[in-house]
Formats: sequence, C-alpha cells, structure tokens
Amino acid sequence: TESGCLSIVVLGASGDLAKKKTFPALFHLFQQGFLQSEEVHIFGYARSNLSDDGLRDRIRGYLKGASDEHVSQFLQLIKYVSGSYDSGEGFELLNKTISEYETSKNSESRSSRRLFYLALPPSVYPSVCRMIRSYCMNPSSHTGWTRVIVEKPFGKDLDSAEKLSAELGKLFGEEQLYRIDHYLGKELVQNLLVLRFANRLFLPLWNRDNIANVQIVFKEDFGTEGRGGYFDQYGIIRDIIQNHLLQVFCLVAMEKPVSLKPEHIRDEKVKVLQSVEPINHEEVVIGQYDGYKDDSTVPDDSNTPTYASIVLRVHNERWEGVPFILKAGKALNSRKAEIRVQFKDAPGDIFKCKKQGRNEFVIRLQPSEAMYMKLTVKKPGLEMATEQSELDLSYGMRYQDVKIPEAYERLILDTIRGDQQHFVRRDELRAAWEIFTPLLHDIDAGKLKSVSYEPGTRGPQEADEMSRRMGYVQTHGYVWVPPTLA
Ligand code: BG6
Repeated sequence: TESGCLSIVVLGASGDLAKKKTFPALFHLFQQGFLQSEEVHIFGYARSNLSDDGLRDRIRGYLKGASDEHVSQFLQLIKYVSGSYDSGEGFELLNKTISEYETSKNSESRSSRRLFYLALPPSVYPSVCRMIRSYCMNPSSHTGWTRVIVEKPFGKDLDSAEKLSAELGKLFGEEQLYRIDHYLGKELVQNLLVLRFANRLFLPLWNRDNIANVQIVFKEDFGTEGRGGYFDQYGIIRDIIQNHLLQVFCLVAMEKPVSLKPEHIRDEKVKVLQSVEPINHEEVVIGQYDGYKDDSTVPDDSNTPTYASIVLRVHNERWEGVPFILKAGKALNSRKAEIRVQFKDAPGDIFKCKKQGRNEFVIRLQPSEAMYMKLTVKKPGLEMATEQSELDLSYGMRYQDVKIPEAYERLILDTIRGDQQHFVRRDELRAAWEIFTPLLHDIDAGKLKSVSYEPGTRGPQEADEMSRRMGYVQTHGYVWVPPTLA
C-alpha cells in the first residue's frame, strides 16, 4: 500500500553477515517479486575501497539456486559507497547517492522509505546511528520513513545494554528501531501462537496440571572455528540462550495476548519474562568442549561456556513448579533446535506404560521442520502390547510444494511493512538481561566453572543428570526418524 522510493542500505556490506544472510535474504525477496520495481534500490556501505562490481563479485557466490541472469539482474540493483563509520563525509556521500536515485525516478514527491541494516559490530552502532540521524534521514517529515535494523549482541549485560538502548533511543524512536532476533523469523517459531491459541486441544493442557517439564534445545555439531575471538567474549549464554532460546521460551510460556497487535503480543512477552524467578546456580550446568582453547584467539585460561543448561522457573498460576530447561551447545553430536513439552504420567496406569515413556509434544524448529506428539499405542499385531509411536506433522511431507522462507527474508519484509511483532522491544530486552545478568557476572568472575566435554558428544553428563533431577524422562529405545518421500 505504501509507495515512494525504497532504499535499502546494508552497512557492513563486505562483512560475513551481509554476505551470508542479508544479501541472500534480499535476493530471495527479489526472486519472489518484492523488490522488483524501479523504485527500489539497494546500497552497500563499508570501509573497503571497492567498486560496485567489486562488491557484486563478493556477493555473487552466496546467491544460490537461481539462473545467472536472475542473479545478475539483482546484483545490478546494488550500488556501493565506501566510507568510515564515524565521519560525516562518508555518510554525506551516502545520502547524496541515495537521493540521486530517489529523485531521478520520482521527482515530484520527495517521499522516500529508507531502511538501514546494520550488519556491523555493536561497538559502532552509536556512531553509525548518529551519522544516519545527521545525514541520511528521509527528507520528508510527513511521508515515508526511516527505519534501522540492528543485530545482537545488544550489550553484554544489563548495564551495557541499557546504555546502548539509551544512546540509540536518543536518536530514533522505538517505532524506527528493529532489533532483530532471527529465531523469531523461523517458520515453526512463528507457528507457536497459532498452535497454542487456535487449538482447543492444547488450551486446557498447557499448564502445570498436565505438563511435567519443558525443554528448549539448541545443538550444533561444529565448534567456534574461525570466530573464537568474538565468541570468547560472549559465550553460549549471550550468543544463543539470552536471545534465541528465551524468545522461544516467551512464546511457549506467555499468556494469550489481547489481540495480534504487535504491542499486545510484546506486552505478554514482557510479562512472562518478569515472572521468571532469579536463576538458582544449583540449576545450571556450564561446559566447554575440549579443544576450544586451541584456537589462538582464545585465551588459555578461558572459562567461557560453549555449552549451558539452565533451568528457568516461572512464578505464576500457570507454571509454578514446572522447570523450563534451556539448553544450548556447540560441538555436540548433532545439529538441531527443538522444543520438547513433556506431559505427566497418565494416572492409574493399567498398561505399565511408564517404562515406555510419556506423551511428549515436540516442535522441531530445524532441520526437517516438524511437530510430533509421542503417544502410547497398541503395538499392531495379535499380541496385546503397547509401544511408543507418534502423530507426525512433518512439513517436508505435508507441505511438499511449499518453500519455507528464510528467517531473515521474512524479517526484512516485516521491516519494510512496518510490522514490529517479530522484533524485540526495548523493555523486553531489558527484562531478558535482568534474568541472566547475575549468572553471567558470576561466570565471568569464575564463581561457576565450565566442565569439559568431548566434542561430538551429548555434552556434559552433569546436564543429563540435571534434566533427570528436573523430572525429564527420556524414552529409551524410541527414536523419531523424519519421514522421507519414497
Ligand atoms: C547466531 C549465533 O545468532 O545463530 C551463532 O551467533 C549460531 O553462533 C547461529 O550459529 C545459529 O543460527 P541458525 O539459524 O543456524 O540456528
């Protein structure tokens, strides 16, 4: 519905994030027809001295699954401007370049929509935002807009995050700032609200009366190769748990929002975060894989966790007594992310099901997106015996012709449309840091020690023991195998 020129500016255009995520996401949008208008222009900005073609060549290799012609068409949209991140000169030039494209096609109205994507380290956010504010804003005060997408890490703890928020808050209104957490762009994460609140089946079950425990799990089967220096300053809790897994937690645990308005949804997320009790250090296991410190950019005495399992407890009527186990690790035995909602045992069991396992509702975020409910059924055949089976909604089977969009692609489109539902609000960020800051400070001070684990394993045994202590019952001898097309 909006019209006027759309200028998308990727700052940090020659960096890793831009090449691997931002430009490919823009390309996918382009392929689906979203950016194919004479009014759309894409600009890359970075310090390196490059020509337009120089930048295009760097990006080309990351644009897959399309004809050369299509790729070239998209690349032609991209112009490069070089300059530093803290001097007026570069940003003046950027503004001049954007304006030239805006006016050449659309001279009578000065309406423009300007989207700035900061694919940059957070240390330069304040200066870059100041520069945008001083030199590059949409020139019209009554039509169009200027929006800024920022990436985590938003600070390292509560104080630094609040400081950053305050600095950016002086320059841009909350409605102009889009704090991206790409987990909120994943298909099955976006499905959580629908699943929970549009299905009568789940409404009466989703509480402490029926649910024994919830696990939110992230596993990667590779280490921190190549980014150990960055990672060591943050660790797995800041890299994955405080943002990605906590966002998923909010959607699993929050109450029903008044409506689907972004503010209503985010209000509920803040509320559930504020209901989380202070983390008990007895309910935390942190680990570091053997070999992590071989990376020359990692200090020899690093205590930085590459694995953590943390129990969150929600102090409200729905969840009192139900442990939420948030677990994330690098260099483990597999790569996957999933939510596991484990139900209590059926009371008065006459089948001796207990040994076989409980009902467990699993939402597999990636790979092989799926939802499945583990059930006890009669084993088919002449004998009266029971076994674990599942109701399985595997997306690859059920939605064979649907291409599931990439998280970044969806979130960039949301920004263009002005929908902040899937972005992190300032008070939400604050509440998230409030939960983890005391623990992080104690880890940084060495009060909690990372136990070591072998790469390629499940991670520290201590974490499995803790899950058992929390009442999680693992089903032995049952493995869900993603179905494949014959
Ligand atoms: C990033 C983390 O935010 O998410 C990385 O910094 C991690 O360490 C990545 O590998 C995982 O994202 P995805 O979408 O592959 O699960």
